[in-house]
Amino acid sequence: MAYPSTVRLVDVGPRDGLQNEKQPVPAAVKIELVERLQDAGLQEIEVTSYVSPKWVPQMADNHEVMQGIARRQGVRYSVLTPNMKGFEAALADQPDEIVVFGSASEAFSQKNINCSIAESIERFRPVVAVARERGIAVRGAMSCTVGCPYEGEIAPAKVGYLAGLMKGIGVQRVDVADTIGVGTPTRVQAAFEATLAHYDIDHVSGHFHDTYGQALANTLAALELGVWNFQSSVAGLGGCPYAKGATGNVASEDVVYLLQGLGIATGIDLAALVDAGKFISDRLGRAPNSRAAVALLNKRAG
Ligand code: HMG
Ligand code: MG
Repeated sequence: MAYPSTVRLVDVGPRDGLQNEKQPVPAAVKIELVERLQDAGLQEIEVTSYVSPKWVPQMADNHEVMQGIARRQGVRYSVLTPNMKGFEAALADQPDEIVVFGSASEAFSQKNINCSIAESIERFRPVVAVARERGIAVRGAMSCTVGCPYEGEIAPAKVGYLAGLMKGIGVQRVDVADTIGVGTPTRVQAAFEATLAHYDIDHVSGHFHDTYGQALANTLAALELGVWNFQSSVAGLGGCPYAKGATGNVASEDVVYLLQGLGIATGIDLAALVDAGKFISDRLGRAPNSRAAVALLNKRAG
């Protein structure tokens, strides 16, 4: 078994991370976070979402944030668009990639985006078509691929079903997301195997929340399958407002530390990433939720 030689990380902290913050985070802070992430070498950043501000107030400043970033060549800025209304709003800000987000669990689909899985695909269909016509890349997030806060365990067949629907409407790559962080390596591998029936290895990514402390183990399990695209959140920010009790994504600092140890290239400067995590954590009034970041900060202080 050989691990991939390179891994590409999407930092989803500004979106998946901050969407769940109760305290208002000024747009200027979000903009500085994105710029610090690109300074640290991130080539992909999930910046914001174009969803109902009544549902997710923290992302209501999507335009201001996207317009405020000093964008850098070679960096891909992605945004979430659940429907045509969100996509049309996003167009003004010229994202490089849009993300439609569906769920392998029927109940989570209803709670998160207020429609069934089948209805969600019909909402995504025109969004995907128009995005691709305009040369905007399209990613599909697949939530609850291992477990659901409302339905419990999710069978791999449900993941395969959703991946097939995503493929059918022209979604170019998909994220296998463990939204509530309940997965363990074999279950996560099963979710990937089901997805790989529809997408090749270059078009799947791992998105692991760390609720039960399994996200790094799950990352390693995905690497064993050859997966080389992952999403993580600087300082371990976040959680989903419609997945009660779920914690943030695996911390980007922890993933980069793991990958460095395995000799896998990421193009990311860990020290600068730790600084970005410290910056946002200071603004939020807490320590970074990353073991590697805390260890490295303690080492610096000592
Ligand atoms: P809906 O109520 O079914 O939509 O919501 P609707 O078309 O019936 O419209 C109702 C109202 O929402 C109307 O406004 C629309 O204009 C407005 P009103 O007339 O009542 O004032 N509306 C919108 N406003 C702004 N942007 C839009 C939009 N669409 C309709 N795009 C909707 C459907 C999806 C909008 C709603 O359910 C929603 O906003 N949900 C929030 C979803 C969300 O952001 N969840 C968190 C992100 S997903 C996630 O974190 C998981 C992920 O990380 C992977 C993982 O870990 O699993 C990706
Ligand atoms: Mg998530």
